[in-house]
Amino acid sequence: MDDIQYQFAGNILSGRPTSLRASGQAFAPSNIALCKYWGKRAAALNLPVNSSLSVSLGRLGTRTEIRCADTERVYLNGALQPPDTSFAQRVSGFLDLFRPFLGDPQFEVRTENNIPTAAGLASSASGFAALVMALDDWAGWGLGGREKSMLARLGSGSAARSVFDGFVQWHAGSNDDGTDSFAERLPEKWPEFRIGILELSRARKPVGSRDGMNRTVETSFLYAFGWQKQAEEDLARIRRGIETRDFTLLGITAERNALAMHATMMSAWPPLLYFQPDTVEQIHKVQRVRADGLEVYLTIDAGPNIKLLFLQENEAAVADAFPGLQTINPFG
Ligand code: PMV
Repeated sequence: MDDIQYQFAGNILSGRPTSLRASGQAFAPSNIALCKYWGKRAAALNLPVNSSLSVSLGRLGTRTEIRCADTERVYLNGALQPPDTSFAQRVSGFLDLFRPFLGDPQFEVRTENNIPTAAGLASSASGFAALVMALDDWAGWGLGGREKSMLARLGSGSAARSVFDGFVQWHAGSNDDGTDSFAERLPEKWPEFRIGILELSRARKPVGSRDGMNRTVETSFLYAFGWQKQAEEDLARIRRGIETRDFTLLGITAERNALAMHATMMSAWPPLLYFQPDTVEQIHKVQRVRADGLEVYLTIDAGPNIKLLFLQENEAAVADAFPGLQTINPFG
């Protein structure tokens, strides 16, 4: 962890009395961005180039429990993770930010994901959000949503959005000190809104989103040419789609935003191509079924899996067209 990160966490936590309970627990949902976070303006504090907008996945996410221990122990889905694994190191490294406020303890952390880890389904987002929320529960700090969002952001950018349910906007902010870059829940609910997870691969991706994003910012002419402006416009359109329940506007904009993000990756060097043959086949299929009159759109993160966007009235038809689809009702 960086000095800047310690300072940032310190500014949020100092002056907050700690009253430790035996353990702390929290659940945070995974989230899928409809307008993607892609690119950092400052790396240490995970400050994004553009604002982003997501929908949280209801009961799909991460449950975390934390307590003191004689030695540090990190469990993932019931299995103890050796300390030299990247998972254990990421968790322990993140916890370093909080140790000074808790009497420098060793931790036992138990994390249960009900989504596949690192398959482009944003388990790091719900993971860091749940960790911050469990710490807050344990320490009795009484952090507000904005503070939790800013602390979760230090673990993984998209974790800033997983602190909340429903539609969530992460404001990019413009301050160098990171104090105006946090997520907020949007007031609108859309009970008919559905997300379908088309899981095409559980394989760990060869380049993580952090490295992929940095490579894109550094080398992609397409990114430099227009990503930031396009993303801000897309976000405004998606917000309008949510506010006016215009699903067509939302769907078209979200699909185009995701494919534009992948275009910036493909024009990086070395090129980043997260699509697998199955991904391409399913993109064509979405276009085909849409041309046949079924209103369904897609979005894809830094991985090969596809998420479909549709409304409840089309749930049965979409499930028929895409066998194996796992449908989520984010507002259910
Ligand atoms: O939070 P990170 O560093 O895992 O980056 C997430 C990037 C995308 O999933 C591709 C987009 C997003 O907004 O979630």
